[in-house]
Order: sequence, then structure tokens, then C-alpha cells
Amino acid sequence: MPRLVVFSNRVPLGDKPSGGLVVALNDTMASQGGLWIGTETVKERSGNGPDALVNHPGATFERLAMGLTPEEQDGYYLGYSNSVLWPLFHGRADLLSVSVGQFTTYTSVNRRLAELSAPHLRPDDTIWIHDYHLIPLAHELRKLGVRNPIGFFLHIPFPVANGIRALSDNAEFLDWFSAYDLVGLQTQRDVANFIGAFRTLGRAELLSDGRLRFNNDFIQVASFPIGIDATGFRTAAEQAPELPEITTSAQKVMIGVDRLDYSKGLPHRLRGFQAFLRERHAEADRIAFLQIAPPTREDVQAYKDIRRDLEQLSGEVNGEFGDIGYMPVQYIHRSIPRARLAGLFRRADIALVTPLNDGMNLVAKEYVAAQDEADPGVLILSRFAGAAEQLAEGALLINPYDAASIADGITRAVTMPLDERRTRHAAMWSEIARHDNDWWTATFLQSLARAAASRRTSESF
Ligand code: ADP
Ligand code: F6P
Repeated sequence: MPRLVVFSNRVPLGDKPSGGLVVALNDTMASQGGLWIGTETVKERSGNGPDALVNHPGATFERLAMGLTPEEQDGYYLGYSNSVLWPLFHGRADLLSVSVGQFTTYTSVNRRLAELSAPHLRPDDTIWIHDYHLIPLAHELRKLGVRNPIGFFLHIPFPVANGIRALSDNAEFLDWFSAYDLVGLQTQRDVANFIGAFRTLGRAELLSDGRLRFNNDFIQVASFPIGIDATGFRTAAEQAPELPEITTSAQKVMIGVDRLDYSKGLPHRLRGFQAFLRERHAEADRIAFLQIAPPTREDVQAYKDIRRDLEQLSGEVNGEFGDIGYMPVQYIHRSIPRARLAGLFRRADIALVTPLNDGMNLVAKEYVAAQDEADPGVLILSRFAGAAEQLAEGALLINPYDAASIADGITRAVTMPLDERRTRHAAMWSEIARHDNDWWTATFLQSLARAAASRRTSESF
């Protein structure tokens, strides 16, 4: 079997990352083995010494990291990746923050990563590049003569053509994708956006076999909804350590778990809960809402703003509805161990997942996996999460922009009879157990092997 070489910006190096990509790829690498290459921040690079990838032993797979100076971290990660591409891909051009030099740093970091990695590659490796930080990487590897199959997977939504038009300094954006044998996206919605953007902006032609003819190249694109280790997470939830009492006088617990990102709709969620509390009948169960939102990308202004908004709003809701022994909102601003998280999901009667736009949202799937099937909780899910394409049958789909829609979801969840909870949960469990992380990895890699083989055949004629 060819060795799998995975590239992503972040490599798990002993910290406690809370992001879908690292969680999913950790499961993939733990079962497949191989080499994982990424970046890490360093104070300074060894000036005259040989610039090399640093080996991080201690995992069941090999890990190599390229050091980024604080300036590179600024321009490539905080800058172009997270102040330009992230807001654009999430449909938030209003939050774009463009600074001089970001784009150059982004492309030069990708080029250097290609140069340092190429000597580590073997001719029969399968290369799988992940996410928006590394879109140009295949293009750079091809320039160095790398002929291996190279696939790309985007964990976040793909934007509509107008989003890409806002990348005013980036004439190469569409071309970068031609270097891949296969482009994988999360959902059908993303594939439609991708095809639409290439037809509108690149005059690409959609062929009857689903490929795009773009300039003199062919691009193969398809959706591969990312999965979780469903049975592993369920077992972790069953065996989770004893949890402290969540609150003294609430009858029901509702949970939210997200990086503190503006794409997650956290203020909208609190306004929805506030609307529910304002409307609820006197006899309704008291609900404690536990929001776990670890910090992320805190040096970017938009993330500072969202933190301030959330803190203000949770104070407001607690002031309005709190009582002695009852705090409606408990807000925890840090990462917690996965075993404990699994236990909290199982303990919670409701999960409230309200992104304004999200590639997939693994939290929604983890919540389903963690439930006790005899007495499962209810998932309230934004129709703008990628996961809504797969979980529509079982989740209560809501519109996060409409506080009344969230409040209505909470009311339905609180009052849902056991039979209906079981039926809905069974539909969702069957979907996430069938399309789990192993399925995602195997399906993508099989499609990549086919796409690369057909490209080689067409090149040899
Ligand atoms: P994103 O990739 O945008 O962060 P996802 O919902 O797809 O969103 O993935 C988030 C992952 O990070 C999930 O596996 C979730 O369990 C994990 N996570 C999120 N918040 C925390 C936290 N506070 N502590 C531990 N893990 C977290
Ligand atoms: O899943 C989307 C994603 O951007 C991943 O690429 C990333 O690992 C994760 O969210 C967390 O973000 P960050 O790596 O910036 O902490």
C-alpha cells in the first residue's frame, strides 16, 4: 500500500487543539499510519544553519514541522489565511482585513514548505493536502517535479464567485486547483459553488463525466462529508469520568461547544436562548445552558470583538433570568479533555449548534454519537452547517439569524416525547456510523487513486 503523506497547517504536537481538521486527521493517521507535515511557530529560524523540517517523534505516525517566524505567522496564518480567506470563504467579506505583504508571505510559506518537504517524499507516496492555508502547495510541489497523486480537501465552505472576486490581489487563485488530481469538498452545496465559480470566473466547461475543463487542464471535484470515529466517541462517552453537578436547580442541560469563532453564530445562539426564556411558560423546565468556547486566533480583531460580544450577552441573560441557585448561562472559555467532553455531551439533554456558515461541524456528529440510545438528547442544528445535509432527518433544523426560530427549536426539544427522540436519534446515528472517519478517508483515497490513474493515462497519449 502506498504511504500516506498528509499536509495541514496545524499538526498535533502535544497541545490540546480544538478544531475539526486536527481531530479528524488524528483519527485517520492513527488508523493508516504515514507521515504528517505541518507548521509550528518558532521564535526565530536558525539564521545560517540548514533550514529543515523538525521531526517530532512520539506518535504512531511520523510528524514533521516547518518553523514559522512570528512575522510569517502574522502574514500567512493570522493574515492571509485567517483575515482574508477565512472570512471570504464563510461569506463575511465585511470582516476582511487586508494588509500589505500578507499575500506574498502566504505564497512564500507555501513555496518553502514545498521545497523542504520534497526531499522527504517517495515516488509511490499518496499526498493529501488539507485546508485553505495550503491551497497553492500542490502547484509548488509540481514545479519541483513531484509527480505523485495529490489530493486536496477543503474543511470549510467553498465561496460563491463573488467571494472570490474580493480576492483582488490574487489572479492565480483558480489556477492553484489545477495542480490537484482531486479536489474534495464537504457538501453538495460547496461543489455547486466551486463549479459555479469556475464557470463564471474561469470560463470552465463542465464535462458530462463531472470534470471541469479549465484552460488546458481537467479538474475533478466531488463532495466527501467528513466523519468522526463514531463508535470510538460513543465508547468514550459511555466510559467518561464522573462529571461534577452542572447546576443546582436546572432540570435540563443544553450544551454548545465551539471555538470562539464568528462563524459559529454564538451571539445569535444566546439571543435565541434569551427569546426562549422570555417566552417560556411559567411551568417550563428550567434549562441550564453550558457554552464551552475555547479561544482561537485571538490576535485577529474580529475574534476580539466576538469574545467581547459573547461576554456581554451572557452577562445580560444571566442578569435578566438568573436566580439564587440558577445561572441560565455558564460560559467556559477554554479547551477541555475529549473524554470529559464526550461525557458532557451524553449528560446534555439538548445540543444547540447554530453556525451561520460551517464546512461540516463535527460537534453536531459527536453529540449524536455520545447519546444513550435508550434516552437520547435532541440536536438543534443550523441549516447552514454542512452537517445539515446528512442529519436533516433527525435534527431540528433552525435558522440562526432568527431568534424566534432558535427559541422554537428549544421549546420543541424540551417537550419532545421519548419515542420521537429515539426515532430521530436512530436516523442520525445510522448516518454518522455508516459515514464515519474511516469511510471518509477510504472514499477520498480511492477516488484520488482513480483520478490520478486517469490523469496519467490521458497524459501518456
Ligand atoms: P471547527 O473545525 O470549525 O473548529 P468542528 O465542530 O468541525 O469545528 O470541530 C471542532 C472540534 O474541536 C470537535 O472535535 C470538538 O469536539 C473540538 N472542540 C471544540 N471545542 C472544544 C473544547 N472546548 N475542548 C475540547 N475540544 C473542543
Ligand atoms: O476546520 C477548520 C479549521 O480551520 C481547521 O483548518 C483548523 O485546524 C481548525 O479550524 C482550527 O483552527 P486553528 O487551526 O486556526 O486553530
